[in-house]
Amino acid sequence: MIELTAVRTDGWRRPIEGADPTTIATVAPGTDPALIGEGSEGSALGSGSLASLPKQDPTLPPGYYPLKTLGEPVILTSHVTKNYSIVGRSEPVRALIDIDLSPDSEFYPIRKGEFVMLRGPSGGGKTSLLNVLGTLDRPSSGRVEILGDVITSASPDNFLSALRLRKIGFVFQTFNLLANLSAKENVALPMSLLGKLNAKERDERAKKLLDMVGLRDRVEHLPSELSGGEQQRVAIARALANDPPLLLLDEPTGDLDTRHTIRIMDLLMRLNREHGTTLLMVTHHPDLECYADRVLFVRDGELVMQAVNRHQRCLDEVAYGRYVAERERKAGQPQGRG
Ligand SMILES: Nc1ncnc2c1ncn2[C@@H]1O[C@H](COP(=O)(O)OP(=O)(O)O)[C@@H](O)[C@H]1O
Ligand SMILES: [Mg+2]
Repeated sequence: MIELTAVRTDGWRRPIEGADPTTIATVAPGTDPALIGEGSEGSALGSGSLASLPKQDPTLPPGYYPLKTLGEPVILTSHVTKNYSIVGRSEPVRALIDIDLSPDSEFYPIRKGEFVMLRGPSGGGKTSLLNVLGTLDRPSSGRVEILGDVITSASPDNFLSALRLRKIGFVFQTFNLLANLSAKENVALPMSLLGKLNAKERDERAKKLLDMVGLRDRVEHLPSELSGGEQQRVAIARALANDPPLLLLDEPTGDLDTRHTIRIMDLLMRLNREHGTTLLMVTHHPDLECYADRVLFVRDGELVMQAVNRHQRCLDEVAYGRYVAERERKAGQPQGRG
């Protein structure tokens, strides 16, 4: 039986709607164990301190992680809405209708150390929600609480940007790297803004972070000299610059091939499991749901369903690559981008 089922706090459960059942079934235990990683060297990301996978439990099937204890609630929302006004249109776009991540809701708050994925159809409100939770945008109404700080439609810009700088790493769908700065300078920029490290320390940390995402030999490159996938990885390194307790990612593997997708996911798993970083990630990729503790489904501006994984799991880079190649061959069209 597929373990990734929708589980509500009242015990109601059913298989995830919209998830690709083939994929989930294929990575489920007993179906094809070769698809599940064992923390092999093949999954290592460069030689940085976060290079290898976190330790797994030898009593569980390969790729499975032990149950973990989550910490206190770090993201709570209460009746959050987001409307966008459009010039020449009287009716605003209602991107978020009523988002409640609260103890009173079946969608409980996001807790410290939780790895949450946001899934759902395009235009459903995932990016809008991530932007509001990442303090890039204010809710139109309602209340957001991030690591103890409260955000409403009236929160001033400087308050939001200070909160973001100290506590939140954000990986944008479109990277948003500064074109005239090298990879290393892009990564060092949030450190300069925070002002805790001197120039030498910033330089060393930026190089270490780039090494960690497998870009040791691209340190001096400008964004225009990097592929889409490499820019994405610079964006991830930059998001980690100030060691944020909360990392938000909008389609971080959207521009990566299978190999780099797995490497980035393994890195996120390590940050999550060993560093205790709380992760909130938007993805279109059903195969990646196994990495999460919880998957929230967003549709038409609402949370419509959640699924809970008892155990987080990782995919094996080589076996998964083979599986994807075979699936694409059968479908007759390649899907990965470089
Ligand atoms: N800046 C904006 N101005 C106007 N409408 C927007 C803006 N951003 C998003 N929308 C609209 O809000 C809805 C939700 O969009 P979005 O949050 O980007 O969804 P998703 O990330 O799930 O694809 C869509 O109808 C989209 O067209
Ligand atoms: Mg989006």
